Amino acid sequence: MSVVTIPLGSLAATTALGAAIGASLRPGDRVLLSGDLGSGKTTLARAIGVALHAEPELTSPTFILIAEHRGDLPIWHVDAYRLPPGSDALRAGIIDERQQHGVTLIEWPEHLEGLGAEGSGVLGIHLATTADEGTRSATIRGARAELLAALDTALGTSGSTRG
Ligand SMILES: Nc1ncnc2c1ncn2[C@@H]1O[C@H](COP(=O)(O)OP(=O)(O)OP(=O)(O)O)[C@@H](O)[C@H]1O
Ligand SMILES: [Mg+2]
Repeated sequence: MSVVTIPLGSLAATTALGAAIGASLRPGDRVLLSGDLGSGKTTLARAIGVALHAEPELTSPTFILIAEHRGDLPIWHVDAYRLPPGSDALRAGIIDERQQHGVTLIEWPEHLEGLGAEGSGVLGIHLATTADEGTRSATIRGARAELLAALDTALGTSGSTRG
């Protein structure tokens, strides 16, 4: 499986990444947004939402487990932070049949079980902030070829690594 790490030195870089991801998503896809508190999960989710013309704009749903948005595709935005680790995604109401027709963006996926392995329809994105404060990166796993091609075009390959 391809893995690519992209530096996110600014909010503009996050917006560009969100645009590339948004353009590559297909109905039924899940995007798993992992990373420490404040690493930029909601910021990237919002950028993906902008690319998909989400209404209303995605926000940090502190006390809301799951929010539904209209857009080019229906969008579900999940924040599982308040669920205990090991929660069953289906029983917790995170997974829903209607999501086959849209995309689901999930913050704190490590609190959930049953989301599926990273692969064609499940995109894993790990956001990290280095000790060199302010320097952020996104490590993407399970992306389709068209997303990787879009990243090459939009962001360039310099500074990214593949394995
Ligand atoms: N690429 C970036 N460059 C600079 N600042 C960023 C970047 N991405 C996010 N930020 C800033 O980091 C802060 C926290 O971001 P955000 O709320 O997206 O994190 P989060 O991972 O969703 O946090 P939480 O774990 O609380 O849900 C915000 O002030 C946001 O503007
Ligand atoms: Mg968040």
